[in-house]
Amino acid sequence: MPHDLTPLIEAHVRDIPDHPQPGVVFKDITPLLAAPEAFSAVVDGLAAACDPDTVDVVVGLEARGFILGAPVALRLGAGFVPIRKAGKLPAATLGESYALEYGSATVEMHADAIAPGSRVLVVDDVLATGGTGQAAVRLVQRAGGTVVGFSVLMELAFLRGREKLSDVKLHALSTV
Ligand code: PRP
Repeated sequence: MPHDLTPLIEAHVRDIPDHPQPGVVFKDITPLLAAPEAFSAVVDGLAAACDPDTVDVVVGLEARGFILGAPVALRLGAGFVPIRKAGKLPAATLGESYALEYGSATVEMHADAIAPGSRVLVVDDVLATGGTGQAAVRLVQRAGGTVVGFSVLMELAFLRGREKLSDVKLHALSTV
């Protein structure tokens, strides 16, 4: 049974009310990143979603999924691939759009970033509505990869993002 990281995460992630807009409570992970032992424990926890032998690539979601996903990739001996907001990546991309409360958003991945048949672990800080995560899973699948796990620091269960990832092995280190 893996060590329960909930108390450590609760101690190092702070709530910022009304950011980025009124009514939203933002989960700020910067205190966690500033505490090396806590940061390291969380990276180990995220990496524990998969056996290192079963992962070829870690995909991180902009922006905090980059900070967490890159050390997870190194822990697993895997490559790292970023999924970015639209218009940021320099080479040819695949894109996926998803609905927001008002309007939509698009995320992109380099079209050649994932070799067909690659086994992929997706990493992010927060799973909220699941829109970003679902778009990421679709991008990986369109590239011919297989999502073998989806690791997050925090799952905001009341937003039911898990329902959009029902065909993926979701590993949340803590649940709010
Ligand atoms: C946050 C968070 C996840 C996403 C989760 O990123 O880091 O990536 O939202 O939300 P969802 O499950 O409702 O899709 P954000 O869009 O704020 O981007 P940022 O990390 O670039 O600030």
